[in-house]
This record gives sequence, structure tokens and C-alpha cells, in this order.
Amino acid sequence: ALPRDLVGRRVLVTAGGTREALDPVRYLGNRSSGKQGFAIALAAVARGAQVTVIAANTALAAPPGVTVVEVTDARDLQRQVQAHVGSADAVVMAAAVADFRPAAVVESKIKKQDGRGPAPIQLLTNPDILAELGAQRTGQRPVIVGFAAETGDENGSVLDHGRAKLARKGCDLLVVNRVGPGRAFEVEDNAATILAADGSEPVQVAFGPKIDLAAAICDLVAERLTRLDSGDRE
Ligand code: C5P
Repeated sequence: ALPRDLVGRRVLVTAGGTREALDPVRYLGNRSSGKQGFAIALAAVARGAQVTVIAANTALAAPPGVTVVEVTDARDLQRQVQAHVGSADAVVMAAAVADFRPAAVVESKIKKQDGRGPAPIQLLTNPDILAELGAQRTGQRPVIVGFAAETGDENGSVLDHGRAKLARKGCDLLVVNRVGPGRAFEVEDNAATILAADGSEPVQVAFGPKIDLAAAICDLVAERLTRLDSGDRE
């Protein structure tokens, strides 16, 4: 039987990937399907939580019992996260948020111009919603979980990048997964290392269904919320 360790908890999950409009028909986007975020929502509901998913461009049905709010771009996602975070006990930021957006949305479809090359696209930096949550939190609630999709490179290991990101974003847990062709995005399976800010050992989740990683995240969130409750009583 599933643990009912999230009864009475409100969990806010972001899922999918933002799309940043370039003109009325084009956008800058990414390959996130939303499957991992929806799996987290499903796992949390099954354990008794009240769950809201802020879904960016997912083509997935709302899991039973989950409230879904649809958004398109990073700033929509930011508005909805801010609108819902106040009542949340935990926030899981599984969405792939575009780091940049076109500086201006062109009003009519950008046309090919004979004899001239492509027009350059100017970009602006989007707000970092996760970092903002970490910075605005006064106590230890909500528990904040971030994701880091890392391809790994020559300048240090995936986990080194993860540790730095955990600190920089001010989250409690960071789910680090490797991405790349056939990995993580648009597929059914995932593998990850979950890093914790409280100094506890990283949790390795073996390659398997996204619901397994979702369960591991719920375990850690439930544990932290229980710990915070007992702290409150002392
Ligand atoms: O910095 P990076 O994009 O790798 O961070 C990934 C984490 O930060 C994810 O949890 C993602 O949802 C969140 N994020 C965000 N706002 C951004 C970029 C990423 O909340 N603009």
C-alpha cells in the first residue's frame, strides 16, 4: 500500500516547457513533455496531497483529483506560481522554463526577405522563478524542489553543477538528471540523483518509470514536512 504521508499537504507542481512567442505563429521552446511533472502530481495525490499543476504546453490529460492551470510562456508561469505559492506546503518545479525570450513579439508573421539573410533575434533573460521562490521564502516553508537537466561537459561533473545550482537557487532538493538524445525528455523513463541542501546523502534513483522518481521525490518532501511540523511543536 502507498504511504498516506501527504494527507493535508498542498503541493504545487510545474510541468512541461514554456514557449516564448516570436511572432503570431512561431515560438522558442524546448522538448519537455510534462510527463515527469504529471507523474509527481499523480504520486502526490495518491499519497493524500491536494495538488495543483501549472502546466506549460503539455498534451496530457489532467490526472484525477489534480487541478491543472495552463500557461504558455515563462512570465505566465511566474504569475501562476506566485498566485498559488502562498498556500503551498511544497513546490516542485519540474517545468523546463525558457531562460530567454524574444525581446519583442513581432505583430505579423516574420517574412523571408529576398536577398537578405535572416534577421537576428534579440533575446531578453526571463525571470528565474525557482531562484525567486528561494529568495522570497522567509521560513522553511514551502519545501522547494528544483530540477536540473544537465548534459554534462568537460568543465566539471553533472553533480558538481548540481551542487552549485542547489546553492544558487536556494532550494531544499535538486533533482539532477542527465539529458540528451533519448534521455529524460519525451521518454517514459528517467534516472536521477536527488541532492539535498540539509547535508543528507544524495538519493540515487535508478533508471526506470517516471513514477518511481516521482515517488522518491514525494518520500523526501513528506519527510521534510514531517520534520518541519515537529520543529514547530518544539
Ligand atoms: O538554471 P536551470 O534552468 O538549469 O534550472 C532548472 C530549474 O530552475 C528547474 O527547476 C526550472 O523549473 C527552474 N527554472 C525557473 N525559471 C527559469 C529557469 C529555470 O524556475 N527561468
